[in-house]
Amino acid sequence: MNNWTDVAAEADLFEGAGIPVAPGGRNIALFSVDGEVFATDNLCTHGNASLCDGFIEGHEIECPFHQGRFDLRTGAPTCAPVTEAIKVWPVKVEGGRVFLDLA
Ligand code: FES
Repeated sequence: MNNWTDVAAEADLFEGAGIPVAPGGRNIALFSVDGEVFATDNLCTHGNASLCDGFIEGHEIECPFHQGRFDLRTGAPTCAPVTEAIKVWPVKVEGGRVFLDLA
């Protein structure tokens, strides 16, 4: 069962920068790449870094602490030192709002 939750206005997102959102106390980062919105856990799996403060390169987010990278589409680690995937959240955009499936 889906649990679509309104988390942000699409207008709050900018290409090349992430923003944090905290629906239900979760720590999630939103990213906009080529007009598509991606949502991942904000906390890096390697340390106490917020991925929304990282650097977007194509469909990868580079952690601001040790430059580990994750694929925003799958959460898979793509560059050391990260080895553990981050969770990705289903996203839909409707009526200028961004919804995440938090089920
Ligand atoms: Fe993210 Fe180390 S904290 S790569």
